[in-house]
Amino acid sequence: MLKRILVMAVVVATSLTMMAEDKMLPAPDMTAGTTVMEAMANRRSIRKYTERKLTEQELSNLLWAAMGKNREDGRRTAPTCRNFQEIRLFVFDAEGVSEYHPATHSLTPCVVGDYRYLLAAGQDFVKTAPICLVMIADMSKFGNVDERAKMMASVDAGIVSQNISVACAGLGFATVPRAMMQAADIVKLLNLSDSHIAIMNNPVGFEAK
Ligand SMILES: Cc1cc2nc3c(=O)[nH]c(=O)nc-3n(C[C@H](O)[C@H](O)[C@H](O)COP(=O)(O)O)c2cc1C
Repeated sequence: MLKRILVMAVVVATSLTMMAEDKMLPAPDMTAGTTVMEAMANRRSIRKYTERKLTEQELSNLLWAAMGKNREDGRRTAPTCRNFQEIRLFVFDAEGVSEYHPATHSLTPCVVGDYRYLLAAGQDFVKTAPICLVMIADMSKFGNVDERAKMMASVDAGIVSQNISVACAGLGFATVPRAMMQAADIVKLLNLSDSHIAIMNNPVGFEAK
């Protein structure tokens, strides 16, 4: 009996440690994809996906294009108002939720479980996308949270979302920019402070013809 309890304790401790561990992504492949002009020509909203998942390299390329670090001083592929860098990017999949960290090009696991239903908000196709990227603004970076600050955060989230859309078109993935989601429930799930607002999300997969 004691042995069984000890084994269980080790299993729980191991899974908690694994949960807390950051996952380094492979370096983005700077040669991947079409030209920018071809990507722009192909960009469109796609809401039907196959079961194929993105490889680690594909996810790395996508997250870097979305808002990865592209300069030594920590600035990113997506500009933000006064460089506040208030947009946080989360990856929802069937196993859980992770946060992307541009500075280290890594993912930090946040929650275990399939919470894509919180993003679907009535649009069931969202639950069939292998991943869904969610842009959440941390308004505390603005200091004074007025209507103008909220507008700027929306612009910044929109820019990340458009980076994702264009990257998907160029890299052969399918996506649609979305505002629909259970925004308050998502902030609660991720244990984020009241200063956070979930603004946009992009389900990403491969187009089902
Ligand atoms: C701010 C914004 C919010 C959107 N929200 C949703 C959404 O919640 N669900 C959805 O299916 N499409 C959503 N869309 C996608 C639009 O419906 C789509 O972009 C539009 O119909 C034009 O089609 P296209 O993207 O193929 O050019 C959204 C687009 C934008 C820019």
